[in-house]
Amino acid sequence: MQKSWYKEMAVYQVWPRSFCDGDGDGIGDLKGVLSKLDYIKSLGVDAIWFSPLYKSPQKDYGYDIADYRSIQPEYGTMEDFKKVLDGAHERGLRVIMDLVVNHTSDQHEWFKKGIEDPTSKYHSYYHWYKGKGKRRPNNWMSTFAGPAWEYNEKNDEYYLHLFAVEQPDLNMDNPEVREEVKDIMKFWLDMGVDGFREDVITFISKKEGLPSSPYWFPVATGIENYMHGPHLDEYLLEFKNDVLSKYDCMTVGEAPMMTTKKALKHITEGPDQHLNMMFHFEHMAADCLFYSWFKTKFKLKNLKKVFSRWQKDLYGKAWNALYLENHDQPRVINRYGSPEYRVESAKMLAVTYICQSGTPFIYQGQEIGMLNYPFESIDQYTDVSTINNYNVAKKIMGEEKALNLANYASRDNARSVVQWNTEKNAGFTTADEPWFVVNPNYKEINVEAAEKDPDSILNFYRALLKFRKENEIVIYGDYKEHYKSSKTLYVYERNYEGKRMLVINVFGDKPVKFKAPKGFDLSKGKLVLANYKDADIQDNGFTTKPYETRVYLFD
Ligand code: GLC
Repeated sequence: MQKSWYKEMAVYQVWPRSFCDGDGDGIGDLKGVLSKLDYIKSLGVDAIWFSPLYKSPQKDYGYDIADYRSIQPEYGTMEDFKKVLDGAHERGLRVIMDLVVNHTSDQHEWFKKGIEDPTSKYHSYYHWYKGKGKRRPNNWMSTFAGPAWEYNEKNDEYYLHLFAVEQPDLNMDNPEVREEVKDIMKFWLDMGVDGFREDVITFISKKEGLPSSPYWFPVATGIENYMHGPHLDEYLLEFKNDVLSKYDCMTVGEAPMMTTKKALKHITEGPDQHLNMMFHFEHMAADCLFYSWFKTKFKLKNLKKVFSRWQKDLYGKAWNALYLENHDQPRVINRYGSPEYRVESAKMLAVTYICQSGTPFIYQGQEIGMLNYPFESIDQYTDVSTINNYNVAKKIMGEEKALNLANYASRDNARSVVQWNTEKNAGFTTADEPWFVVNPNYKEINVEAAEKDPDSILNFYRALLKFRKENEIVIYGDYKEHYKSSKTLYVYERNYEGKRMLVINVFGDKPVKFKAPKGFDLSKGKLVLANYKDADIQDNGFTTKPYETRVYLFD
């Protein structure tokens, strides 16, 4: 397998609105980011992925872009961005931008011009269709709930929006739209950014004629017509050949409903490769069906199966993108760990995914073990998809249950402000009111407290990332799972150039007897990471402690 910088790096994701407010208006911004570059560097990561910083009406917090070449004024100016870019590069941190080209904002010039003058070229930048009488052009439903079509009275037409009403889908079949996308890529790459996280990139090609779906779901009806559309390969290859291959950059594509088989078409290394990596969602469904709003009981076996499938199917052929949190997922401790054993389970979960083969992504606040926010009313939420999903859920299960579900499933849980210290508003802003909620647990859970505690989650992440950086086995080693049928233990080994590594993770608080798999003598291994001080060995094994993790290295 070829070595590469993007395989060896670890990435920190910044969701700018809630990261750090540098100008005292209650909203996170680039000045705030600048002030925290040393902190980010101190984690031992090699890159920052910025969720959208571009000019946007913020209906979907930046994923609705009104101008791809300017910075959202609330976040600062292009000068501020360049300072952050330079500051990051000076520290050896690469910068990855979010490329959102499945759709724009309805406030983008292209969209506005296409409505003003339906004969202009911009009209065909989007999917405009006449209705069937009074009916919508097809039965597709938005991913955010509600129909995927919005009527425009002026021209008596509907436009397609797979996400919010204010996010019209671009018509990627139009070659001029693809030229625009390539120009946007060049604009940022020429400025010096190091790559893109490509938002719902596997949705960009829609099946010809946009046929209605024979299936009905409350959300995303019709998804089979665009989740892996007919021209996706072609368009991705065009972007790569015409632009990306000319720069030393990386790409990671967001890919809902992605399987390893399909992913390999895009990320298998070689001349036909489209993207470097993909964010699939399969491992984020161990406590739900497809996504967190269809909640089920957490099942470790489901999680392990997915992890192992991606590790095995890609090994030697393609590269994994590893994550447990981002701005769209509730906090992982609340899902796969335990708030009661917050510190232990946070460390165990970190080991679980970062010791696999792939590029790990860490979401802001994850490194200090931030938890879901205790929302009490639907009025406290600001995320469009939460509110839409709640309204659907309310009709099915009533208000109380729908609210409980939102508390578990909402991505607003990831968007409470980062907790920096014990000062007012957790040190996020000096304004009286931050734009969004501050978790009341900030007096206990914050960066400053974690810095002072050698056993904090934060310092554990640092040790883990340092270990990964210093040991190629973590990056390039192969993978083999043990005790597949265990409902509590997730155990795997890695092998590389004569070295072996054994990773033992305990999901749960009930003690179980662990015995080292055949061929491993724990007394001969070096315990390199653990979340309990007392890591005794008995009979080549041990009785597990709640959410315990241990990593042994064998030379
Ligand atoms: C992606 C983003 C999400 C956004 C959606 C529409 O899933 O991660 O935040 O709402 O695309 O752009």
